[in-house]
Amino acid sequence: MFSWRRLFNNISSNIKAKTTSSSRERISLKKKSTLQSRIFFTKEREIDLYDLEELCDSVGWSRRPLRKVKRALNNSFIIVSAWEVRKNQRRLIGFARATSDHAFNATIWDVVIHPRFQSKGLGKGMINYMIRHLKNEDISNITLFADPQVINFYCRLGFIIEPEGIKGMFWYPN
Ligand SMILES: CC(C)(COP(=O)(O)OP(=O)(O)OC[C@H]1O[C@@H](n2cnc3c(N)ncnc32)[C@H](O)[C@@H]1OP(=O)(O)O)[C@@H](O)C(=O)NCCC(=O)NCCS
Repeated sequence: MFSWRRLFNNISSNIKAKTTSSSRERISLKKKSTLQSRIFFTKEREIDLYDLEELCDSVGWSRRPLRKVKRALNNSFIIVSAWEVRKNQRRLIGFARATSDHAFNATIWDVVIHPRFQSKGLGKGMINYMIRHLKNEDISNITLFADPQVINFYCRLGFIIEPEGIKGMFWYPN
């Protein structure tokens, strides 16, 4: 039986990225794998909403109306996704998007890696891929809202909690 564990064993320290001409970034293992499978990041915007919903389901997120998700994607500045390709079939295994004022600021949302692919360095690779593209767009201020259990994941990527005492503030309707 095909073993994800075997494929991604020790990938974390062995992750290697190669940018292709189509702005895809191919992720490959330094050690050769005998399995016919590859992973890449892309900022192509064609995301099947049902695939995305399935990915979000896999980490237990509450479902959102697809028409609103579609609108959110359409209005996002950059969408990045991670794909696993096997036998000419590709599968969505990671996703993140950023909104922006297209000048100074961007905020990252909806960061997710499929559980079977977590803890292998893909989340880190995907966010670094996002940051590189935001920097290329001359965006200098990148923010996000971290769930408590993933704060250290973002800290490891260089995000700072409350720089100079600045607090995130929220307003919710009553
Ligand atoms: C959070 C998430 C995107 C991380 O992706 P991932 O592929 O599992 O993370 P990586 O393997 O790239 O981890 C990168 C580093 O962060 C660390 N890390 C990963 N998840 C962590 C967590 N929850 N808490 C603390 N550190 C974490 C890893 O140990 C690794 O450290 P290293 O660089 O020293 O080796 C993924 O676990 C996920 O999709 N979770 C469910 C959805 C979610 O909570 N999204 C965030 C909403 S704000």
